[in-house]
Amino acid sequence: MIQPAQSRVVRAAFKTLLLCSVLLAPLSYGEVVPSGTEAQIRERLTADGSVCRAGQDCGTAAAAAATGPKSGQQVYEKFCFACHAAGVSGAPILGNSEQWAPRVAKGMDALMQSTLNGLNAMPAKGTCATCSDDELKASVEYMSGGPAG
Ligand code: HEC
Repeated sequence: MIQPAQSRVVRAAFKTLLLCSVLLAPLSYGEVVPSGTEAQIRERLTADGSVCRAGQDCGTAAAAAATGPKSGQQVYEKFCFACHAAGVSGAPILGNSEQWAPRVAKGMDALMQSTLNGLNAMPAKGTCATCSDDELKASVEYMSGGPAG
């Protein structure tokens, strides 16, 4: 028969053993890895060495807000210029009022429809899939020489 005092000792020993295996388990799998991908971990480590922990804002929201929307010129220079600088496939050329006049006459709504959906060789959104409608509108105004009706 096991006496109550003895069983307490057995249980205590068993608990200690269990605790040790739980604590040592991570070591048997190599180093303990912090949560997140390597890029996310790097992002949390700021230049001055202070650590931004998972779940904290880490200033990314402020950084995104500072970027703001792209101007019409920025969108043109990154996307539209590929065709609209030289007139590839008959694309109306930047600032060429003769080429833009009949298109501007259709009104901004019609030009935005062509821009968003594409028109013949003109690809939808002028290849800037991430541009907002406002950014695309600004680039149309920039290319066609000013706000259209
Ligand atoms: C791959 C070449 C290409 C790129 C890139 C491109 N366009 Fe075009 N775009 C064209 C062509 C070609 C036309 C003439 C289409 C036609 O009338 O058949 C055109 C026409 C247009 C028109 C006139 C549409 C109409 O209804 O008359 C607008 C507005 C326009 N593009 C805006 C843009 C904007 C804004 C961008 C950049 C965000 C852009 N395009 C990028 C080729 C391109």
